[in-house]
Amino acid sequence: MNFPDYRGRRVRRTEGLRRMVRETRLSVDNLCYPLFCAPGQGVQKPISSMPGQHVWSVDKAVDAAAAAYDAGIPSVILFGIPEKKDAVGSEAWAANGVVQRAIKAIKKRCPELVVIADACFCEYTDHGHCGVIHERELDNDASLENLARTVVSYARAGVDIVAPSGMLDGFVGACRESLDEEGFTKTAIMAYSAKYASAYYGPFRDAVDSAPQHGDRRGYQMDPANAAEAVREVTMDVGEGADIVMVKPALAYLDVIRVVADEVNLPIACYNVSGEYAMIEAAAANGWIDRDRTVLETLTGMRRAGADILITYHAMLAAKLLAK
Ligand code: PBG
Ligand code: ZN
Repeated sequence: MNFPDYRGRRVRRTEGLRRMVRETRLSVDNLCYPLFCAPGQGVQKPISSMPGQHVWSVDKAVDAAAAAYDAGIPSVILFGIPEKKDAVGSEAWAANGVVQRAIKAIKKRCPELVVIADACFCEYTDHGHCGVIHERELDNDASLENLARTVVSYARAGVDIVAPSGMLDGFVGACRESLDEEGFTKTAIMAYSAKYASAYYGPFRDAVDSAPQHGDRRGYQMDPANAAEAVREVTMDVGEGADIVMVKPALAYLDVIRVVADEVNLPIACYNVSGEYAMIEAAAANGWIDRDRTVLETLTGMRRAGADILITYHAMLAAKLLAK
């Protein structure tokens, strides 16, 4: 079709026409809201590098989760900041750990809210790596054993979905096997399948104090240059029993979301990470961009790339905007 037979503007003329031909839908159903849970009572500590986000004590996290539920958001994902860190991150699987308590309390207050718990050790270890360290390297298989304990402890607390995030080889299989052995066949796994060694995690690491004390995470997280490898990682996780696969971060990896969505017949999540949030907030605070429009455009881009589930610190704002 050529001009003047084709005039693209004919179907862009009014909001009604634009709604009719819109290809991508962004809905509150797509959103997942991250919550940082810490010890204490009545704590609501602002995270300076993530304006508008907080570290919550469990009682406050329950209120925040209830607010998300009331806003129509179907799920939250929990991160824990322990009382004490140690070499192996043992508080991660403590029956009375902060995430385990938060899971119980949130499911009690909002039984229909889907509660996801991130399962990793970098927030819990004194060295800040995502598992057990042996000769300055992450010991894969020793870390898997602790991961298996951790996800079972989440399942005992009543979690709906566990989200192993350490990029250990075999981590999905280890989670599935341990959950099934303990009778938790209904607990789902959302795998951080293609998680990149990204500079965009900076604000998150400030919030949970999880920056590695030596070295970096490039020995386990993926090289930002690779996309075929992402397909390989995702395919492995599907074979090991993942129910949902994730690409993280989102914005610099929209092409990866697209290839993964084309390759894999499972729900696709993407993680709109802390640095992506911080960039929008910083520019908006300076009056350089329109926060509301930028947020909706960004999330729509992730949907267009093929993601079904958008984990985003902007979930509460997006829910409010979408309700209008
Ligand atoms: C830890 C973990 C990270 C994030 C979630 N879980 C980052 C890291 O590797 O330090 C990042 C989340 C964000 O930046 O918003 N395994
Ligand atoms: Zn980690």
